[in-house]
Amino acid sequence: MTMIDTNISTGEKYITLEDQYGAHNYHPLPVVLERGLGALVWDVDGHEYLDFLSAYSAVNQGHCHPKLIETMMRQAQKLTLTSRAFYNNMLGEYELLMHKTFGYDKLLPMNTGAEAVETAVKLCRKWAYQVKGVDENKAKIIVFEGNFHGRTMSAVSMSTDPSSYTGFGPFVPGFIKIPFNDLAALTQALEDPEVAGFLFEPIQGEAGVQLLQEGFISKAFELCRQKQVLFMADEIQTGLARTGLMLACDHENIRPDVVLLGKALSGGLLPISAVLADNEIMMCIKPGEHGSTFGGNPLACAVAMKAIQILMDENLAFKAHHLGIRLRKGLNQLRNEFSIIKEVRGKGLLNAIEIDQNENSDLAWRLCVKMSENGLLAKPTHGHIIRLAPPLVISEAQIDQALDIIRTSLVELLN
Ligand SMILES: Cc1ncc(COP(=O)(O)O)c(C=O)c1O
Repeated sequence: MTMIDTNISTGEKYITLEDQYGAHNYHPLPVVLERGLGALVWDVDGHEYLDFLSAYSAVNQGHCHPKLIETMMRQAQKLTLTSRAFYNNMLGEYELLMHKTFGYDKLLPMNTGAEAVETAVKLCRKWAYQVKGVDENKAKIIVFEGNFHGRTMSAVSMSTDPSSYTGFGPFVPGFIKIPFNDLAALTQALEDPEVAGFLFEPIQGEAGVQLLQEGFISKAFELCRQKQVLFMADEIQTGLARTGLMLACDHENIRPDVVLLGKALSGGLLPISAVLADNEIMMCIKPGEHGSTFGGNPLACAVAMKAIQILMDENLAFKAHHLGIRLRKGLNQLRNEFSIIKEVRGKGLLNAIEIDQNENSDLAWRLCVKMSENGLLAKPTHGHIIRLAPPLVISEAQIDQALDIIRTSLVELLN
């Protein structure tokens, strides 16, 4: 047995443990968290931080929302898992609430975001063979370059990021990759009669908060309509009030054929994801053809219902919209002062600053370390982009505090 050095700090002890006994598939900032409430988290040494990552937008409702915790505790003492071999008294109620909230005929419950993506791919292929009339095993799905749809084999097969796919082949066939934001490329790809779906993120989160040009979603939707191709929005990161409306596609008043939700569907309590679609699509999957032991479990259903209720009761989409404007205004002021900030972009409370650095520089990483020392947590993506996406329950004063911390950190880093 390996002994842990008792002279090291509490935080270092946990970092050493993870390093030694855990797979090295992440590169975390050196901060060890043990508690959270609202937009704040605390580390094992009692330091307080503003969380500007929100577990990649899973904690839109804020850490340990008291009503969500209370709901979870109550349901956990009653019934947690039945499998879908039997009915339970929560799933139907949850599906009804989601029908009323999003207006789709049906919901298919899964757990992680990546599973929702797998489900959408399978659903789209079935629909292609049963409804559209594509020859068996020939269906194709168009995706964007730079996408991030998770870590499963289908998701990495869609990926154009070498660190996502290198070394994991052979890949799942049937994906056509087109440049991001390129309507001409989409138009051309749609000429292939075997194309069954277009799967996209309305804002590419992992790629560094990359926004589509205004009007793209409605134009792309129209093109897909003309070619009888399913318009499938991966709203796992952008959905559930994050960008200032319930879904990011709502900004263009577009109702996708298939919507994927995850992350904030549980407010960060447990993995809950969902695929929404109308009967013509959803009824293509018959009993025994798809499922998940944990998908639709009563605990998840109770939590998801409350998570949705909180988004509405607390007007979190409205808050995200207004606080997002305030945050970007402050960040743009910083950009005017500090030339290392190349760009500020985002929608609602899904934002990013792009740092002007050479390929091998770790300036963005060092800025994030500095910000953590000053009480704000964020993490670079693709080396030079820092995503700034706090829980939507954050206050105006905390947004201003965050801007002060970013300013102080920039001054300290550059002096
Ligand atoms: C747009 C999008 N799709 C899918 C996923 C995968 O979700 P999960 O990590 O829950 O599998 C993510 C995760 O970051 C995501 O941002």
